[in-house]
Amino acid sequence: MAAGLVELAGVGLEVERPVRTRILHPIWLTIPEGARVSLVGPSGAGKTTLASIVGALQPASEGEYLFRGERVDLLDAKARAGFRADNVGFVFQNAHLIDERSALQNVALGIIDPTVEADEVTGRCLAALQQVGLAEVADRKAALLSGGERQRVAIARALVKGPRLVIADEPTGALDQTNGKAVLELLFSLDATLLLVTHDLAAAELADQVVTIVDGTLA
Ligand SMILES: Nc1ncnc2c1ncn2[C@@H]1O[C@H](COP(=O)(O)OP(=O)(O)O)[C@@H](O)[C@H]1O
Ligand SMILES: [Mg+2]
Repeated sequence: MAAGLVELAGVGLEVERPVRTRILHPIWLTIPEGARVSLVGPSGAGKTTLASIVGALQPASEGEYLFRGERVDLLDAKARAGFRADNVGFVFQNAHLIDERSALQNVALGIIDPTVEADEVTGRCLAALQQVGLAEVADRKAALLSGGERQRVAIARALVKGPRLVIADEPTGALDQTNGKAVLELLFSLDATLLLVTHDLAAAELADQVVTIVDGTLA
């Protein structure tokens, strides 16, 4: 039985282009199920790269990655996409909403399974919007939402499939302090395991575990 939701054993990344560059040195990291982990470090340290490997957005070039005991590092691109769809909700610095669509329609983009019926899609989206405190703006066009509301819709979109793991990469970077605090409190209140990339040390301290990365190496 696996000890963690996420287990990295010697996971590293070297890219060949434009020139051979080592981006991540081999990393050993366990994220227990239900843990809230902050990943901190200076700009260019490799935070986004590590988060994208954990989220299976890109493969590592070496090492073993186990998710609930499953070998993610052995999956091909198509299987990786399926793994992401099933298990990982992403939140980025910008909400990336479709402005012409309603909040609810944007949340619905998080349901990747095409077999879910329309009524169930609506019900699950409303529940996710409720979870982020935005049920009342479900029908409002995204273009009319505030920055903080947009990011909460993005969190609802990440949550709507019930992911085991939420990866948030600098989710407060584009928000003012008040909205940023609300978004952090929301992320830390979720049931899912959380990997939060941040350079805000106050935000990092909310976590159960703080992982520091410098020059592609865990400090
Ligand atoms: N595919 C890639 N090819 C070349 N360099 C990359 C690639 N991905 C990331 N990098 C470089 O790796 C370093 C770490 O980037 P990143 O993970 O985005 O850092 P952080 O999120 O901590 O600011 C940076 O120097 C970046 O330019
Ligand atoms: Mg980054």
